[in-house]
Amino acid sequence: MRAPSKVNLHLGVGDLRDDGYHELTTVFQALSLSDDIEITPAASLSVRVSGEGAEQVPTDRMNLVWQAAVRLAHRAGRAPLVEIAIRKGIPVAGGMAGGSADAAAALVGLNELWDVGLTRDELATLAAELGSDVPFALYGGTALGRGRGEKLLPVLSRSTFHWVLALARDGLSTPTVFRELDRLREQGDPPRLGEPQELLQALASGDPAQLAPLLGNDLQAPALSLKPDLRRTLRAGTTAGALAGLVSGSGPTCAFLCESEDAAIAVAAELSGAGVCRSVRTASGPVPGARVVGEH
Ligand code: C5P
Repeated sequence: MRAPSKVNLHLGVGDLRDDGYHELTTVFQALSLSDDIEITPAASLSVRVSGEGAEQVPTDRMNLVWQAAVRLAHRAGRAPLVEIAIRKGIPVAGGMAGGSADAAAALVGLNELWDVGLTRDELATLAAELGSDVPFALYGGTALGRGRGEKLLPVLSRSTFHWVLALARDGLSTPTVFRELDRLREQGDPPRLGEPQELLQALASGDPAQLAPLLGNDLQAPALSLKPDLRRTLRAGTTAGALAGLVSGSGPTCAFLCESEDAAIAVAAELSGAGVCRSVRTASGPVPGARVVGEH
C-alpha cells in the first residue's frame, strides 16, 4: 500500500472542547511524500518499521497500524494474523500525519486481503476512532475538515501544486503543541484565522501565486514558541524563492509552496545548503488517499 502524507493549507483552531480536542476548520492536501506498507499473512500480529526515524516508532499496540488491524479483524470476526511492515518516507512526529497515513493504508490493505468488503465511507468511520487525521489519509486529494478534522468534504483543486519540505532534526508532539496554543491564548489573545473561503477559491483557480498568501496555520505560533529556530527555516525557504512557507500541521516540518516543479527543485537545492534543517524533500499534491499499489 502507499500511504500519502498531508499538509494543512489552512488550519484554524477553535476552542478546547470538553473531550480534550479542539474544534478545527482545516483544508488538507495529500502529498506525494509517502510511506510504503506491506502486509503478509503470519502466525501472529506484528509490526516492523524501517526507514528514517524508524527507531522512534513503536512496534506494539501503541502503533496505530496495530490498532487498525485489531479493530478491522474484530469487525470481520477473525484474528489479526498478519505481519505489517512499514517503510517510512514521511518524517516521524513531523506534523505530516505519517502514523495516520500508515493506519489508513493498513485498513485499506486488510479490507482487501481479508475480503471484508467495507466501503471507503465505512472504513472512514473506523478510521475516525483511530485518530483525527486517519479519515483524510483514506480519501486523500484536497478536503475541508471540521470537527476534530474527521468530518470531511472534498474540495475542488484544479492543478498540481509543488512543495518543498524542510524536515527538522527532532519531532514535536501534537498534544504539546495544542497545549502551548492554549497557554498562549490564556496569556493574550493571538489572532485567529478566519474562514478559508478565499483559499478555497484560490484552489479552484489552480494558481499557486494566488494560493500562497492565503496559507495559514494557527498551530504555527505555538510550534515557533516551542522551537524558535523554525523562524530561520521559514525565512530561508522564502529567501530561496518559495512563494510562501508555513509550519505543516503541528510541526516541526516546514512546507514551502513553489511556482512550479522546476522552482521547487531549485528551492530545495538552495535550502539544503542553508543549514537550517535536517533534510529537504520535494513533493506534489494533491495525490490519492491510501491505496493498494502492488500484489505478490
Ligand atoms: O486524534 P489524535 O489522536 O491524532 O490527536 C492527537 C492529540 O492532538 C489529541 O490527544 C489532542 O491533544 C490533540 N488534538 C486536538 N484537537 C484536534 C485534534 C488533535 O487538541 N482537533
